[in-house]
Formats: sequence, C-alpha cells, structure tokens
Amino acid sequence: MEIIERVSQLNSGMKIPRIGFGTAASPQNIIQMKQAVATALKVGYKHFDTASIYGTEPALGEALSEAFRNGIAKRDDVFVTSKMYAADHDDPVSALKTSLKNLQLEYLDLYLIHWPINLRKGVSHPSPKEEDFLPLDIESIWRGMEQCVELGLTKSIGVSNFSSKKIGDLLSYAKISPAVSQVEMHPLWQQKKLRDYCSNANIHVSAYSPLGAFGTYYGSNSVMENSVLREIAEKHGRTVAQVLLRWGLEQGVSVLPKSYNSCRITENYQVFEWSLTEEDHEKISKLPQKKIVRREGLINSTTSPYKTIQDLWDGEI
Ligand code: A2P
Repeated sequence: MEIIERVSQLNSGMKIPRIGFGTAASPQNIIQMKQAVATALKVGYKHFDTASIYGTEPALGEALSEAFRNGIAKRDDVFVTSKMYAADHDDPVSALKTSLKNLQLEYLDLYLIHWPINLRKGVSHPSPKEEDFLPLDIESIWRGMEQCVELGLTKSIGVSNFSSKKIGDLLSYAKISPAVSQVEMHPLWQQKKLRDYCSNANIHVSAYSPLGAFGTYYGSNSVMENSVLREIAEKHGRTVAQVLLRWGLEQGVSVLPKSYNSCRITENYQVFEWSLTEEDHEKISKLPQKKIVRREGLINSTTSPYKTIQDLWDGEI
C-alpha cells in the first residue's frame, strides 16, 4: 500500500495538511457549517478553507475560537486558508485584516488571490456587469500579497483559478513565489498540464470541488455518478467519494472536500489506510475530461480582461 503523508511541504517553509475542509455555504447553511467544523476537528481535519466571498469567515472563526477555548484544538495545529475577493484587489493588506477580524485570528496560514479579475468595490455577483470590471494589474496585487507576508499577517500566499501561463507571468516578477495553486481538480478534470507546471516550479496544488461539487447549483453529479469510478469503489468496498479523494492524494495534491453531514465528514477522512491500484489509475487516466467550474460570467467583449473562455483559462479548458 502506498503510504500517503498527511502533510505536504510548501516552498514557504510551512506544511499544509493534505485533507482540507471546504466551507463554501449558502447563507441558510451557515449554522450547519459551523457545527460541521466542530465535527471535522474531532474527526481529525486540520485544514479549513474559506474565502471572503463565501461569507463563512465569521462562522468558521466562531467554531475555531470555541475549539481553541475548549482545548479541542490549538491555533498552531490548524491550517487556515482564506481568499481575497476580486473587489478588494486595490488593498490586499486591508482585505486580509478584515478576514482576520472575521476569523478572530492573528494570522492566516495561507492567503490566496481568489480569481484573476478586478472588480469595483462592493460587487459580489458571480456574473459581474460590464461596468463592474476594472483594469487588471496582477503584479500590483501580488506586491500587496507579499506585503501581507512581510507584515506577518499570513505565513504563505498563493493563487486560485490561475492557468499555468498566469502563474508563469507572476513568477517573472514575484519576490515571494506563490506557495499554493488552488484549482478545480478531480478525475474528470485532472489538470495534468497545470500540475506538471506547478511541480517544476515547486508550487503545491490544492484541489477544490474534488467531488465535482456534487449536488450544488454550480457543480455536477457527473463525477460522483461516473460508472468507471463506481466500479472501482465497489471493488475496494469504498464509496465513490473516498475513491475521488484517495485519487487526489495519490496524485500528490491536497484535497478540499466539503460536507455538512457528520457521517460524510467522517467517511471523507477515511482515505489513508487503503490505496488504489495501478490498474485503477490507468482506467482513471483515460476518463474523458470536462471542466465543471467554467465561469462564463467573467467574460465580456468590452471591459473584462477575457473576451472568451479560452482567454480566461489560457487554453486550459
Ligand atoms: P453534504 O454536505 O450533504 O455531504 P465538493 O467537495 O466537490 O465541493 O462537493 C460537495 C458536495 O458533495 C456537497 O453537496 C456535499 O453534500 C456532497 N458530499 C460531500 N461528501 C460526500 C460523500 N462522502 N458522499 C456523497 N456526497 C458528499
């Protein structure tokens, strides 16, 4: 059996736990989300992933501070990631200070640029209007991210939803290299090109929507209902979710599943004591590819930096 390390080394010198707990939630699920974090801490999760646009930073902050107060966890033992929203790109330091206040934390473990776009203050719609876009200057945003590290507000910085090309451009001027690239990844969107690129650049990849965002309005059931993955799961006496997460771990990335159900939170953590076979990997490597989180709403022919979906993902779609 292939032994999977529970943490990966980052180029910042820090270590990232390989299983993270995703906290995107609709407003009516925030209380459930907070309870789920408490459950996840008991199960063993050490990495919690949020973003300012999710609106879950305060609830995650409450769950964590209760756990710190009750001795269930220590700040140094958990890894907290948040992401700067595109309408806050004018001032990353202030954006991060707001996130820290929401989370009741002194520092983050990882702070990411959430999307490579720039929006007017206050805009939060997933499909911004033409007048909502501002010119994008990733270099100046990255300078602000570097300042966040220099001020001790976060241990590591990184990017999310960046193509290999955008990461390459960033590396040409970065004084601090991104430690993490967080992207959609699962067997139906394997991100081989981006992962090879990141591996050569010593950037760790984290997989969001590792279950294909099953059952959500923005996701798809195609990953969890895939017949090849079902067969593999049956053969091992595991669930498809466990096969998906184990596959991500065996590819060397960290995975960020999301569940607010205590049985499934536990199930998703039971992926260390068994492994996939070479034959399973071979079958999975042949699955047809289709990106689920495409974000056509970020495209327009006038004000967006991206006139087509190919532009947004630099052909990696
Ligand atoms: P629930 O909260 O009811 O468990 P992703 O992690 O790709 O974003 O997918 C999240 C979705 O997958 C959520 O709707 C979650 O629903 C569901 N989910 C999480 N874990 C499992 C599991 N082990 N089996 C089935 N569905 C799951």
